Amino acid sequence: MTDYDPAENARKSYDVAIDAMREKLASFRCERIHDATLYLGDCREILPLLPKVDAVVTDPPYGIGKDGQKRTTGGHGGRKAYDFMGWDASRPEPETFAALLNAGAQHVIWGGNYFADLFPPTGKWLVWDKGQRINQSDGELAWTSRQGALRIFELNRVALMLDGAQHPTQKPVEIMQWSIEQLESPRTILDPFMGSGTTGVACAKLGRKFIGIELEPKYFDIAVKRIDEAYRQPRLFKDEPPKPKQEALL
Ligand SMILES: C[S@@+](CC[C@H](N)C(=O)[O-])C[C@H]1O[C@@H](n2cnc3c(N)ncnc32)[C@H](O)[C@@H]1O
Repeated sequence: MTDYDPAENARKSYDVAIDAMREKLASFRCERIHDATLYLGDCREILPLLPKVDAVVTDPPYGIGKDGQKRTTGGHGGRKAYDFMGWDASRPEPETFAALLNAGAQHVIWGGNYFADLFPPTGKWLVWDKGQRINQSDGELAWTSRQGALRIFELNRVALMLDGAQHPTQKPVEIMQWSIEQLESPRTILDPFMGSGTTGVACAKLGRKFIGIELEPKYFDIAVKRIDEAYRQPRLFKDEPPKPKQEALL
């Protein structure tokens, strides 16, 4: 007769579950560039397979149909044309936001005004003031998980032209760098709606680890290229990267 050991049984079940998660994660295309790990796929499938990170810094679809645009030649310099892809038809489901909150210890979520009903009330909202008062939005809002004073960063929207805009809703790198700096020294940052990889570029510049997820292969390839290029640039730390700490399993 064999002895049944509940602790040993639990350990084996845990090992089997971890192996199954690793195998599923390995089924997604993955690119590793220095401290960045990028997954091509649906964040609703990938998020549950990842270890918890220090911070989620992201810019989800707002559900306002801005996933493409016609070229304009208006009086304020005009806008570039982008094919309509359909991903901004609706905002992510409440379950996706729950998974996103669960994925990290701290959060910055751009488009916060479109999702405010899904987050707990906090004080430290971020405002990107676009520096111009024209016929477009004067700025954008991010919800953060932190209490404290609201902060405003003024940066003219033409910063995007200097970055080389390649995505219809691309954020300036400076805005994502500033967003990360508003948190308590996160070492590993996750962006589950990576788009053209701006958060990853900001992480490369700040010396932080990055995990990105993007559904559209076209944007994923742009993100790979931009993050790779960012790592080729000389890095000037504005602050010391936070000290290493114990990583989770997986
Ligand atoms: C608002 S854009 C992010 C733009 C990004 N901040 C940048 O600077 O390029 C949202 C992105 O989420 C992607 N997306 C939408 N649903 C997704 C999903 N379920 N999983 C992963 N990515 C998704 C879209 O393809 C789009 O590129």
